[in-house]
Amino acid sequence: MTTASAPTRPPSPQPTPGVTVTLRQRIGRWLGHRAAKPVVFILCLLPLLWLVWGAVMNTLGANPAEAILRGTGLWTLRLLCLVLLVTPLRQATGWAALARWRRMLGLYVFFYASLHFLSYAWLDMGFDLDAIVRDLPKRPFALVGFVAFVMLIPLAATSFNRAIRWLGAPRWQMLHKLVYVIAVLAVLHFLWIRSSKHRYGDVVLYGGILALLLAARLGSLRAWIAKQRERLAGTKA
Ligand code: HEM
Repeated sequence: MTTASAPTRPPSPQPTPGVTVTLRQRIGRWLGHRAAKPVVFILCLLPLLWLVWGAVMNTLGANPAEAILRGTGLWTLRLLCLVLLVTPLRQATGWAALARWRRMLGLYVFFYASLHFLSYAWLDMGFDLDAIVRDLPKRPFALVGFVAFVMLIPLAATSFNRAIRWLGAPRWQMLHKLVYVIAVLAVLHFLWIRSSKHRYGDVVLYGGILALLLAARLGSLRAWIAKQRERLAGTKA
């Protein structure tokens, strides 16, 4: 006698969430590894080494000064995107170790912006302070870049624990919200440069990335403003 057994269902493919979690945990563990920070430090130095190498080997093209100016500008913008990515990525993935990188990446933004400004002051202006002062108002795109650069200075100067203690966390956080203004100015600077050449591809790319990252932070910005209002109302009462 044959018994017709009910067709058994093939086991459903379980592990999707398990695999994701494991991978996420693995990445999280790697990010927290002692070696991760020095690796990121060296990776951030590579664009500079590439530019120096290109200048020494004369492989930067017909106009090396322009290549250096553009290269340092682009890397400032890319690192700015990375800095703004840290918090949303940490919140989305739970990779707490990422927080340790934010300061270093932020200082690298300032480092590349300083190199970019120095390239302009040296290669474009021959370190002639009078010429720089006359040039900035004449070229509004450069003025916008300069304002963004000046705004980076207090952020870099207060990126250390002692400055956080000295300012107090709420004031420090308020100051560091300037990074969003800097991001908008950086995109405006880039847009201004490229609009004269009618080349918008990269501007749309970086502008789009920054817009998404700013939008991701807008929720927490609103929460922060509401908290500050409550705090102020509390101190007035
Ligand atoms: C946060 C600060 C800054 C960022 C993110 C930034 C970004 C950029 C980028 C991405 C480019 C490349 C444009 C291209 O490839 O066509 C560029 C070019 C340039 N930037 Fe900046 N910049 C900043 C600050 C400054 C400052 C302070 C100055 C000078 C006062 C400056 C002057 C220039 C000049 C002269 C160019 C070359 C324009 C050209 O090719 O015609 N930038 N910048």
